[in-house]
Amino acid sequence: MGLSFYDPRAQKGMMRNIIFRVTSIGEVMVVVSFFEDDKKAIHTFFERLVEQFPNITSIFYCVNSKKNDFLLDLEMVHHHGKEWIEERLRDVRFRIGPKSFFQTNTEQAVNLFEIVEEFAELSGHENVYDLYTGIGSIGLFIAKNCKQVVGIESVELAIEDAKLNKELNNIENAIFYAGDVKDILTDEFAQKHGKPDVLITDPPRAGMHPKVVEMLLQLQAPKIVYVSCNPSTQARDLALLSEKYDVLKSRAVDMFPHTHHVENVVLLKLKD
Ligand SMILES: C[S@@+](CC[C@H](N)C(=O)[O-])C[C@H]1O[C@@H](n2cnc3c(N)ncnc32)[C@H](O)[C@@H]1O
Repeated sequence: MGLSFYDPRAQKGMMRNIIFRVTSIGEVMVVVSFFEDDKKAIHTFFERLVEQFPNITSIFYCVNSKKNDFLLDLEMVHHHGKEWIEERLRDVRFRIGPKSFFQTNTEQAVNLFEIVEEFAELSGHENVYDLYTGIGSIGLFIAKNCKQVVGIESVELAIEDAKLNKELNNIENAIFYAGDVKDILTDEFAQKHGKPDVLITDPPRAGMHPKVVEMLLQLQAPKIVYVSCNPSTQARDLALLSEKYDVLKSRAVDMFPHTHHVENVVLLKLKD
């Protein structure tokens, strides 16, 4: 169509990034980031895209005229189809919006969550905290096996998705909060929701903020299941937690085949 590509040095051009999200049940979301807000060109581009690829179920775009590629602070404009894509893990349905994190590898996500479930050894009576919950993925996956799930996530739209997913799956024992874990997870929060019997944490690559590790040491959940996509920050956090916790089990999951990246799940038990 003759649209120019974005040149980061010259800071000009039209087409900047494109993200495709495809689910195992065949839904396809396209998220395009343009550098220039040329509505006519954007509109024509999408008309042609939908004509040629009618299997696209959802299109969003944003205009990113900043110098960095971070998209979460930008408005996502809904252009076509549904406002989410749907994924299923076992019998749990997840609606995922354009700004919400979801594990990129669905088949391995089921394996990963089943390892979390196995390590957590839930009997139905536990109060479970799910830190860095995204759209409530792990929490909703295990909700029927415990008394209560309390999820915390910083992206507000992801928490909206989590609440929607809770309804979609008729789950009543889950509650979700939007905000930075280091600000939300306080003594008062634990008093309000009850101390966790099992604490699941799945932070981004940077690992947990030192304030969060400090809080975990104070909360003293009998069991912590730590899911990580970056073993080096996980090792750093485990060393800090070793003041009060022993590592009982560790299992790696090949979540990102053909790359050197690995997902790792660790079970920690409070020392006697
Ligand atoms: C690796 S993902 C895990 C999501 C979810 N557990 C799953 O399996 O789909 C990490 C999540 O942490 C969120 N996040 C990043 N920094 C955060 C913070 N400081 N406080 C709360 N959530 C944060 C991200 O938006 C992302 O959804």
